[in-house]
Amino acid sequence: MESQLIIQADVTEGTINKNIYGHFAEHLGRGIYEGIWVGENSSIPNTEGIRNDVIGSLNKLNIPVLRWPGGCFADEYHWKDGVGPREVRKKMVNTHWGGVVENNHFGTHEFLRVCELLGAEPYICGNVGSGSVQEMSEWIEYMTFNGESPMTAKRQQNGREQAWKLKYFGVGNENWGCGGNMRPDYYADLYRQYQTYVRDYGGKGLYKIAGGAHDDDYNWTEVLMREAASLMDGLSLHYYTIPGDFHKGKGSAVDFSDQEWHLTMKKALHIEQLIINHGKIMDRYDPEKRVGMIIDEWGTWFDVEPGTNPGFLFQQNTIRDALVAGATLNIFNNHCDRVQMANIAQTINVLQAVILTEGTHMITTPTYHVYEMYKVHQDAEKLAFHLDSPKIGESGIGYDQVSVSASKSVNGKVHISYCNLDYKAGIHLLTEIRGTVPSSVEGRILKTNSRNEMNTFEHPDHVVPREFTNFEQEEDKISINLPPMSVVVMSMDT
Ligand code: AHR
Repeated sequence: MESQLIIQADVTEGTINKNIYGHFAEHLGRGIYEGIWVGENSSIPNTEGIRNDVIGSLNKLNIPVLRWPGGCFADEYHWKDGVGPREVRKKMVNTHWGGVVENNHFGTHEFLRVCELLGAEPYICGNVGSGSVQEMSEWIEYMTFNGESPMTAKRQQNGREQAWKLKYFGVGNENWGCGGNMRPDYYADLYRQYQTYVRDYGGKGLYKIAGGAHDDDYNWTEVLMREAASLMDGLSLHYYTIPGDFHKGKGSAVDFSDQEWHLTMKKALHIEQLIINHGKIMDRYDPEKRVGMIIDEWGTWFDVEPGTNPGFLFQQNTIRDALVAGATLNIFNNHCDRVQMANIAQTINVLQAVILTEGTHMITTPTYHVYEMYKVHQDAEKLAFHLDSPKIGESGIGYDQVSVSASKSVNGKVHISYCNLDYKAGIHLLTEIRGTVPSSVEGRILKTNSRNEMNTFEHPDHVVPREFTNFEQEEDKISINLPPMSVVVMSMDT
């Protein structure tokens, strides 16, 4: 098959906010406990209780922002239970995720330390569903106020002299569901009330994010924008790629049919339509696009691995996940005028994870490698392009074979990320660069020979990026051969 791509290297269309490459870590399964937190006395090498191997690998992704503590857990979480001497912290039942005991050993101080080790901005989600205005307001005071106050004193007693820098704060999570089963008007009123007491101490520019819709719940977006747009900086949107039925069977992460492949791609690409439709509603109330669309939960959601706790949402990760990640990040890049942040669910051991652990062992997933390859787009200028892609898939499940985004970084380098979503056929893609002639071109590729290949604890480096040489440059034209199910990032000096 043959296809054509024209990149306008001299036409920029806004900045790709690096926060699009954000992550999400919830108190769910082995996401926090074992995944990040092992405690200071663990035999697993750690820094103040935080796993060194995990931090070392995550650091290679330049994670810009990390969302915590949930998810559904956020609206059950009472922050005061998670500060002070660990041995006396109150225990709770994590009713939403497996009914396990949460010992609160990982709390505010520990999370903010993780962010420091990662060089990531913390994005904390507050409790609206079962919390109070006072509890939320005191959490903000505890973390960000430096003057004399009861919460400053408490923080200092707990060993932290100076306030932390906190930029992103979410007022509730999925308040239409696990966050309180609220109707949109009711939540909009609560958002208005709660956010009033989320004080921006020191005027450092606290960015307040309202709990948004999921999927195609356009009415939620309409009501929130109508009733509260002027009081928010961001409005969230959640969307998961589930090839099956959420309740009857989502499908296996590793053992799937042709049809499930097509459904996965088709459903992953559907996020673009959701961005467009929710975006149109936002445009009516906010034509300047001041309010960011914050896609703070997205990714694949499959059945848990056989034999694992159904409440822990542990799934393996194949090249199929890598393609979902690559194509989705391309869509976010291409809609960077409105999408200001996105947080894949979830960083470690949960859903579409970038890292999996098994006790002392740790591996990175194909999705991890996409984040590592795509980090070149962070804070780069989006470039205009025109793509002609063939359609593939089965009847009723047709989709574009190729997904693309392109950007120019501050040092003038042009990066183009391509995904060939077909597991059967390669594609020849003629890429024309307009506005400049690249002085040098190089590429990296992530690919496998069959569609359910992955990294395992036995073979941790089976799916890793390699040098890509299957292209020819002639002046401003680059003739590229994308193998089946591949993610390629080309870098060019201009
Ligand atoms: O990421 C898993 C869960 O999915 C989150 O806790 C919740 O917000 C969403 O429904």
